[in-house]
Amino acid sequence: MSPSGRLGPEAGGESVSAEAQATAVPETRYDGSALLDVEHLQILFPIKAGLVIDRQIGQVHAVDDVSLALAEGETLGIVGESGCGKTTLIRALMRLIDPTSGAIRFRGRDITNASRRALAPVRREMQMVFQDPQASLNPRKRVGQILGTPLRLRGVQRSRIEAESRQLLGRVGLNPEHLNRFPHEFSGGQRQRIGIARALAVDPRLILLDEPVSALDVSIQAQVINLLDELQDEFRLSYVFVAHDLSVVRHVSDRIIVMYLGKVMEVSPAAELFSKPIHPYTSALLAAIPIPDPNENRARSRPLVAGEPPNPVRPPPGCRFHTRCPRATEVCRTVEPQLTAYAGGHLAACHHPQNVTAHELAAASRSAASPLSAGQEKPRRE
Ligand SMILES: Nc1ncnc2c1ncn2[C@@H]1O[C@H](COP(=O)(O)OP(=O)(O)OP(=O)(O)O)[C@@H](O)[C@H]1O
Ligand code: SF4
Ligand SMILES: [Mg+2]
Repeated sequence: MSPSGRLGPEAGGESVSAEAQATAVPETRYDGSALLDVEHLQILFPIKAGLVIDRQIGQVHAVDDVSLALAEGETLGIVGESGCGKTTLIRALMRLIDPTSGAIRFRGRDITNASRRALAPVRREMQMVFQDPQASLNPRKRVGQILGTPLRLRGVQRSRIEAESRQLLGRVGLNPEHLNRFPHEFSGGQRQRIGIARALAVDPRLILLDEPVSALDVSIQAQVINLLDELQDEFRLSYVFVAHDLSVVRHVSDRIIVMYLGKVMEVSPAAELFSKPIHPYTSALLAAIPIPDPNENRARSRPLVAGEPPNPVRPPPGCRFHTRCPRATEVCRTVEPQLTAYAGGHLAACHHPQNVTAHELAAASRSAASPLSAGQEKPRRE
């Protein structure tokens, strides 16, 4: 998250500066040298039936052949409609869900099948902040106890726990005297600050944020995002930031991944995704962001996506987006598009990409992050 990407309470439609673009991490690496490295990750949830004998009658394709890499200090935004697999993906990165196949590496170390014991030190470096701060904090524990547990885990001496807890509360903008309060004695925004303080208590390198501001008022969202921004600089943190709303991730991310029905549709430096979306689904998500001026909002053309996402138990063949895509042709219905690497670390999985010149298309190549099941068809211009 670059300082120039900071969101003020009134900064809804602000454009991203050239500086933010310049600091974006242009290349993804899938060779184990990234802080976090995910290769062809698949998570299928079995659907069972039968009263006496459990029978598997199908499976939900929650995350299907996703590869990504996160650099040290980077913020990677993940967006997509409800049910596209965002939470499943980041819960699997924390190993709260076991992957069906693929690999997860943290600082080059394969943790895909690591035991609970082997995971313990990794979990201290990788923390999670949840969407609903109310549900994620134990209502029967005082804030001092909530922060004390991870501090002890980090090896802080018993005599220092209270002082460290106060310091943490102060650092996230809460009153250090409120250590004895219960979570219900705070507002929603304050509870999310406690969730962030709890994550910080173990001194992590990476924080996975699952819609951390979705449950908060817009003005409070901006304050929490600014806090995350400051903490990132101070503690040299990396973030994976999940959101429904492209306008939220725009201000916090260096790069953004757009997901649809368990698959990666587009990966791009944040500013470029807004100025030059290549995938039709991204364009539709961008068109759904309201413009503050009602006249401008009415006047613009909106390539809206019709209908609901298909059933993830039986995802459509070829491009998963073809049942809703206004640009779909025959090849889209039969051949899965490869994730293609364009200039500047911009990837997109579309047979008929938008906003690319013939020259850019000729220079593009299949990305290492492309799904194993994707076809050999090269993208072409309409
Ligand atoms: N434990 C589970 N068992 C079966 N299916 C599941 C399970 N958890 C998630 N799913 C399914 O996996 C798909 C992805 O769910 P997930 O919660 O990851 O989506 P999401 O993108 O986080 O959605 P939202 O934006 O609503 O939070 C959905 O179809 C969901 O119903
Ligand atoms: S591959 Fe075809 S269906 Fe899929 S997004 Fe591109 S144009 Fe639309
Ligand atoms: Mg979710």
